Amino acid sequence: MTDQFSKKSEAWSARFNEPVSDLVKRYTASVFFDNRLAKADIQGSLAHAEMLAAQGIISAADRAEIERGMAQILAEIEAGKFEWLLDLEDVHLNIEKRLTELVGDAGKRLHTGRSRNDQVATDIRLYVRSAIDDVVGLLGALRGALTDLAEKNADTIMPGFTHMQVAQPITFGHHMLAYVEMFGRDVERMQDCRKRVNRLPLGAAALAGTTFPIDRLRVAATLGFDDVCHNSLDAVSDRDFAIEFTAAAALIMMHVSRMSEELIIWMSPRVGFIDIADRFCTGSSIMPQKKNPDVPELARGKTGRVYGHLTGLLTLMKGQPLAYNKDNQEDKEPLFDTVDTLVDTLRIFADMAGGITVKPDNMRAAALQGYATATDLADYLVKKGLPFRDAHEAVAHAVRACDDLKIDLSEMSLEQLRAYSPLIGDDVFAVLTLEGSVAARDHVGGTAPNQVRKAIARVRSQLEG
Ligand code: ARG
Repeated sequence: MTDQFSKKSEAWSARFNEPVSDLVKRYTASVFFDNRLAKADIQGSLAHAEMLAAQGIISAADRAEIERGMAQILAEIEAGKFEWLLDLEDVHLNIEKRLTELVGDAGKRLHTGRSRNDQVATDIRLYVRSAIDDVVGLLGALRGALTDLAEKNADTIMPGFTHMQVAQPITFGHHMLAYVEMFGRDVERMQDCRKRVNRLPLGAAALAGTTFPIDRLRVAATLGFDDVCHNSLDAVSDRDFAIEFTAAAALIMMHVSRMSEELIIWMSPRVGFIDIADRFCTGSSIMPQKKNPDVPELARGKTGRVYGHLTGLLTLMKGQPLAYNKDNQEDKEPLFDTVDTLVDTLRIFADMAGGITVKPDNMRAAALQGYATATDLADYLVKKGLPFRDAHEAVAHAVRACDDLKIDLSEMSLEQLRAYSPLIGDDVFAVLTLEGSVAARDHVGGTAPNQVRKAIARVRSQLEG
């Protein structure tokens, strides 16, 4: 190589008459955020080199040199000693340049039959796949913690709400299991997304494939991909798998945010249903009495940024003609931030669930306040033969009277109740208690403590399986 060439650091520079300005360099470089892909990049390169050697495209000796160089690079990265250079634009060129420094021509042969376009698509898929596995593990931990909480509170009665008005008594265990279900579907979504992530783009090269006799299935097997991407243009250009992951992440955050909203309300002294362990809360710099539920508040807030990333990625993709465009470099920061936000949030929530203290007396008092057993009274009348609409009407009158008398339905005398229907007998009081109300909803998906225990057993077997 002549001096004239070796002076230029850019991998593509021989074609150019003038260097790019510093501003353009900074604008187009991704190395300071995509170096997070370094391990995936090395893993992909090693699989590619192994295949090149097996196919006789490079020599076994070159492959061995590449492996030696990559091992050193990995060690340098892990030790924080690798020098990332803006001049070398991105993670791929930085690693390749260092490899060539370390092993000479073998390093220069690595890029045979490959482009940064299929290389980066492979790296991102490896990265998203491992993020999915982390997220699935964390969702399992969170579901486990919520199930433990549900078990401790299978009999704890609280008011269930619709329109934020007291509706019917439920058990706190049942309420927790609602989130366990939501996070269970989130696991399914992530696992389903993983199928489409786990296909190998490498071999698509820049866009059209390569003239070398590559073996894509071999690389796919080495890297643990289930299949290859079957169209080279599609392989290098679409980021739908990352968008799908972010959409699944947005749904998880939506669930986390709904839960956060409830925790915040429940912890408000006006409600007082729960307390959250001090280590998840902070105080106020001016109001000495304050204990704020910062973690759920922040989780609710961070949900917005994940939604933003989803919108950003969808917008990034929508105007791109086939095949690869540099626009796609913009997929990384939103994707990485989505992973960080989601992983941190799930980790902290799984931990926080174990730090929730329930205040059953306050829950019970609240359940006794809003005529939560009115539906039970109506159902009682239906079982005595009254059509449901008439029963509904009769109970509505009774509730109105209770309102005037400032008492609960269960505090009315038999005489008072019979004024609304002669069908009412003294067996009515069992129906009007909170315990009677929840115990009566004894079918799959119902709030009866008995069913809550069955649901817990079902979740536990899922979590073990
Ligand atoms: N840094 C680039 C990205 O993230 C890698 C691919 C660059 N390819 C190219 N033809 N400029 O997308």
